[in-house]
Amino acid sequence: MIRRMATNPNQSPMSRFPAGFLWGVATSAHQIEGAAGERAPSVWDAFTAEPGRVKDGSTAEVACDHYHRYREDVALIADLGVDAYRFSISWPRVDSPGGLDFYDRLVDELCAAGVRPVPTLFHWDLPVALDWLERDTAERFAQYVSVVAERLGDRVTKWITLNEPAEHTLLGHALGAHAPGRTLMFDALPVAHHQLLAHGLAVRALRAAGADDIGIANSHSPTWPASGKQEDRDAAEFYDVLLNRLFCDPLLLGRYPEGIGELMPGDVDADLAVISEPLDWYGINYYAPAEVGAPQGTETEYGGLTFPAELPFSVREIEGRPVTDFGWPVVPEGLTELLTDLRTRYGDRLPPLVITENGCSYEGLDDQERIAYLDGHIGALLRAVEAGVDVRGYFVWSLLDNFEWAEGYARRFGLVHVDYTTLKRTPKASYAWLRDQLRTARGRRSPADAG
Ligand code: FCB
Repeated sequence: MIRRMATNPNQSPMSRFPAGFLWGVATSAHQIEGAAGERAPSVWDAFTAEPGRVKDGSTAEVACDHYHRYREDVALIADLGVDAYRFSISWPRVDSPGGLDFYDRLVDELCAAGVRPVPTLFHWDLPVALDWLERDTAERFAQYVSVVAERLGDRVTKWITLNEPAEHTLLGHALGAHAPGRTLMFDALPVAHHQLLAHGLAVRALRAAGADDIGIANSHSPTWPASGKQEDRDAAEFYDVLLNRLFCDPLLLGRYPEGIGELMPGDVDADLAVISEPLDWYGINYYAPAEVGAPQGTETEYGGLTFPAELPFSVREIEGRPVTDFGWPVVPEGLTELLTDLRTRYGDRLPPLVITENGCSYEGLDDQERIAYLDGHIGALLRAVEAGVDVRGYFVWSLLDNFEWAEGYARRFGLVHVDYTTLKRTPKASYAWLRDQLRTARGRRSPADAG
């Protein structure tokens, strides 16, 4: 039995966003498509096949079987009433015979349903033969992007180059928690540089194909020092550079934070000119802030990750907050802080922003906690907009429960429940809540717009 909604749609903050604000839902190819046998393998297939890498021992071979059920999923998106759908294009699938046809069909289906397609061109599923330690991967990425843009560019107008290069570098190449499972620690920095270069080359390739609405999806967390002590503040600043500025500074300012550029491979200055190609907008994935202090001399666990003792910081629990099933603290005002701080830090260099991911993992169909999380974060976003930050869109992570990387199927981020035995989709209470909020917001906004 679904309980009454926790919040009143008549008080929806959504009606107070500017007209034209883009509401959407997000997914990624590897996490939902399945049909792994119908495409070339990615680094995630290889990683998952190694025993012990994925906590519940599962694979994404079938996942939500979206590849075969995309019509049903597009109908769910259309019924929800969002404006846009952020999905990702699997490079290994595009490299496989007929692979691009799938995205062609998906884009047609979305357009026919009145939903704007917003593809991400890389969401971590690198073809298994490629390696971000190699500079050549950046050039290969731009070639693949040109092929996709040529095929879909008549219907797709809004593009995202990369998803969270910070996590892909840190989790995949420094700590080994994600594919390809390397533990290079700071020797993983070239992976960051090559992804940034790939992004810049992709922006050029997309513009050459006529695109003029291009962004990237970067993760950001406000970083809070564990105490006022100098050692905690230094550790927090180090973490802030690694997570928040290592990618943002080169993109927006055309330079690396102090001391980092020297560690990068190749002709870094020439590359920075490519990396800082002006963006039409900047995408932010926000889940929670991070409390960071001085190293504690031992391995530490946080949010499902193990941080080695030799790191110059330690990530701490934020006390006194509710946590999601993932153990991430629920801190909506962290989003307001993040957005206003970005505007302060980057000033006129900050393009319009889009929240490309925000969401939470909770069990159950009657997911009142997810409703409270989304309601709180949309309210926090509104406060940033009202404070003058130019934000143009918000995407909920995620449409469906899906394969949550190294956590397997144990984390449920969806507005729609997926039964992994039958693959049946069941909208949760949060889906109904969001649909009502959107309807109410539109109903309220239109007369004002007209008048
Ligand atoms: C983000 C990823 C996305 C999903 C969410 C929960 O870091 O971009 O694929 O796993 O976290």
